[in-house]
Amino acid sequence: MEPKGNDILIKNSDSIIAYDDKGSGSMPIIFIHGFPFDRQSWRPQLEYFKDKTRTITYDIRGYGASVSGDENLSIRLFADDLIALMDLLQIEKAIVCGLSMGGYIALNAVSRYEERFEKLILCGTQCHSDTDEGKEKRYKTIKLIRNGGFSDWAAGMVKNLFSPMSHERNLDSIGEIQNSVNSASQKVVVKTLEALAERDETCFYLPMIKIPVLIIAGKEDTVIPVSRSEYMHEMIKHSEFHFIEEAGHLVNLEKPEEFNRLVEKFIN
Ligand code: MLT
Repeated sequence: MEPKGNDILIKNSDSIIAYDDKGSGSMPIIFIHGFPFDRQSWRPQLEYFKDKTRTITYDIRGYGASVSGDENLSIRLFADDLIALMDLLQIEKAIVCGLSMGGYIALNAVSRYEERFEKLILCGTQCHSDTDEGKEKRYKTIKLIRNGGFSDWAAGMVKNLFSPMSHERNLDSIGEIQNSVNSASQKVVVKTLEALAERDETCFYLPMIKIPVLIIAGKEDTVIPVSRSEYMHEMIKHSEFHFIEEAGHLVNLEKPEEFNRLVEKFIN
């Protein structure tokens, strides 16, 4: 199969999903980004895996070059978009890799359509839903953004995403992530915060997962503690767990070589 071009837009009900689809192979790997980034946050993976297999990254509805309408957002809707994208690309089965919110989406999709997935990779994520305290924090953030505090919130949140080591050495990645957060639509960010606060937990499904699962976490993740990854590892029979030293929440950008090696070994 010929590598396909960038930024191809496809219509999916009331949204347009932008994606990259590169490389060839019978078992595609699809990467789902976290909140509030876009598919550029998987650039080191797209570059690495496109020479090895069919590699797809896409912008979640409302992010990057993808478009959303006036509809409310939910993790379930984002998971439906993933399945719709697979249908449109005529992908019967794929390996799916989700980071943080991307992991929530992957777990939601696997819990409803496990037969569409060959393997699952969960990075810096969790099966738990928000606690009351967590929800309260999200609604406070919504209020802050509605009162004109988007830039302050954007600057503060990016600081927490990286380990101290990355703050010294990965300035390019930090700059790119800051740009993607700054350019996210405030309306979509607010609707996504509501979606995150109201999402269902997926922990109930973990003991039923039959496909192999790889769990990766940055040891210094302060956004989602490593204990949430350890919990998923205990609950999923066919799972392996690796943490990466000196990495925080955005482990795929902070330690791309180690991350890619783990994923490559798992998908082979
Ligand atoms: C993410 O990186 O996707 C978010 O931190 C997820 C969350 O806020 O729960």
